[in-house]
Amino acid sequence: MCGIIGGICKDNITPILLSGLKRLEYRGYDSAGVVVLSNDNKLSRARAVGKVVNLETSIQKQSPKIQGSLGIAHTRWATHGEPSTQNAHPHICFDTVSVVHNGIIENFLKLKQEQKAQGYAFTSDTDTEVIVHSIHQALKTSESLLKAIQKVVKTFEGTYSLGVISSEYPGHIVVARSGSPLIIGISDKGNFIASDQVALLDITKKFIFLKEGDTADITLNSITIYNQNDRQINRAIKTSNLKNNQIDLGDYKHYMQKEIFEQPQAIRDTLESRITKDTVLLSAFGHHAETIFTNTEHIQIIACGTSYNAGLVAKYWLEDIAKMPTNIEVASEYRYRNPIVLDNTLLITISQSGETADTLEALKSIKKRHKNIHTLTICNCAESSLTRESELILLTHAGPEISVASTKSFTTQLASLALLSVAIGKCHKQVDKQQEASIVDSLNRLPGLIKKTLEQESQIIELARSFKDKFNAIFLGRGTMHAIAMEGALKLKEISYIHSEAFPAGELKHGPIALIDKDTPVIAIAPNDQLLDKLKSNLQEVKSRGSQMIVFEDEMSNVPPMKNMTVMSITHNLGRITAPIIFIIPLQLLSYHVALIKGTDVDKPRNLAKSVTVE
Ligand code: M6R
Repeated sequence: MCGIIGGICKDNITPILLSGLKRLEYRGYDSAGVVVLSNDNKLSRARAVGKVVNLETSIQKQSPKIQGSLGIAHTRWATHGEPSTQNAHPHICFDTVSVVHNGIIENFLKLKQEQKAQGYAFTSDTDTEVIVHSIHQALKTSESLLKAIQKVVKTFEGTYSLGVISSEYPGHIVVARSGSPLIIGISDKGNFIASDQVALLDITKKFIFLKEGDTADITLNSITIYNQNDRQINRAIKTSNLKNNQIDLGDYKHYMQKEIFEQPQAIRDTLESRITKDTVLLSAFGHHAETIFTNTEHIQIIACGTSYNAGLVAKYWLEDIAKMPTNIEVASEYRYRNPIVLDNTLLITISQSGETADTLEALKSIKKRHKNIHTLTICNCAESSLTRESELILLTHAGPEISVASTKSFTTQLASLALLSVAIGKCHKQVDKQQEASIVDSLNRLPGLIKKTLEQESQIIELARSFKDKFNAIFLGRGTMHAIAMEGALKLKEISYIHSEAFPAGELKHGPIALIDKDTPVIAIAPNDQLLDKLKSNLQEVKSRGSQMIVFEDEMSNVPPMKNMTVMSITHNLGRITAPIIFIIPLQLLSYHVALIKGTDVDKPRNLAKSVTVE
């Protein structure tokens, strides 16, 4: 979490830093700050609590102006220390060294004690402040800023990407990365660093993606990179195919709204070149995929949040379609236990960002401990830590997802997981040509079905009105719809702050039914499947407790109208692949419109960040 940006350029760098910071806000927005080395070689700093716009306002008022050609900036998601100006980055030591940091220094308390004993004063509660003091201390005996940083990073336990400047080394910005993302952008305006390419798209398309353990010394005319052993190394310059308009709002009010409506195209892009009119192409998963899939005997999925919910749906598909035993677990738990991983397991990670620390660390630790397994990641970011750590990669082509609440990444993950279920089923001769053609047909129909569902927005706006004064909500579903209910509940709670829980509808009577009262709306999903009659009985149980109910049904489900129940038909003849992908659409729209009514910050809900690169 936290976004960093910096650079050295021919003109004043401050506007570049501020505009980049705004694009990095998805990584955190508890506070923001900037340090620029002024022409008279002084570090000038501005910091503000909250979003980058507050920093911008404070800079506009500041005199003398914060300007210069070398600078670093940061947008924070608080881990150590509350969101406050004192805790905001950049941190400065003795007016000479300044640091921005993304990650967590786990041994900061020990370092802090040592530094206090050496006379360093601490002005914040952050773990980061030990970094700036360490560098200041190391500079006393190092021949350059780079050497000082290469020395101190070896004393850090945890994760970091760092941007460092010093008034003693004007003209240099030094960076280091381990466990947190960092890229270098090369433009005719100068050389820059950032947590993510999106921050720099206005000024360049040319990027170097630093690897784990890399450090780099950057000046206006040179970039010198060193590997984890401090050996100078060349890293390729890549040209990004991200377009600036992909990250602009256009006519939409919020990114979440834009991203919900982009789903038909995102699914088309994800399927493109991976299916013919009736087959799934195994080559889509990489050269060795066929051999790996054929030898796979078990699947373990690990993921977090929305990506975990996609994995829950996939467990049903992989067992039902490919007949492959599949387990799924949240990465934050999986990484800290000693799971039994059987030989010939395919370990699948699912992630929008590819940088989620829990998922990444779980993958790394299992790879270290178990040799006879293979790994596959389903990820939306090609140049990410997860793609680098995985043997097989299936990219979801959702395009940049800016809103903290995931929407198009979820549906494209599901489309990718459907492809995977067929691919593995084919390798194990569990999917015949007819089944394959039928699933491919379902996938091909998805963009049209999503578009049709989105056209029902006005009805959902009506439904959203009834949530104005609600504090709790319950989501129900059976089978894959339980996973969709979980995703619906996650969407509602994270952007409208309504406490929402999801239950398998059959589990209600074992406890959760005690929560039901007239002030707690129940949202149920009723596809026309083999569990429909069971679900209808569950709805009767809810009705008897006087709750307000909303049922999203397949037109063919014919849920009988009841008092206090609104039934909304979504479409008809949805099958096992199309139903989960289509039924999440009204739930995304419902959360969005409830959040609008509640007046929350839809794209940047409180306490959250898009990319969780810390534990
Ligand atoms: O980037 P990832 O998919 O690995 O992120 C995992 C979760 O943090 C994420 O899915 C989160 O739950 C959603 N943004 C919530 O909408």
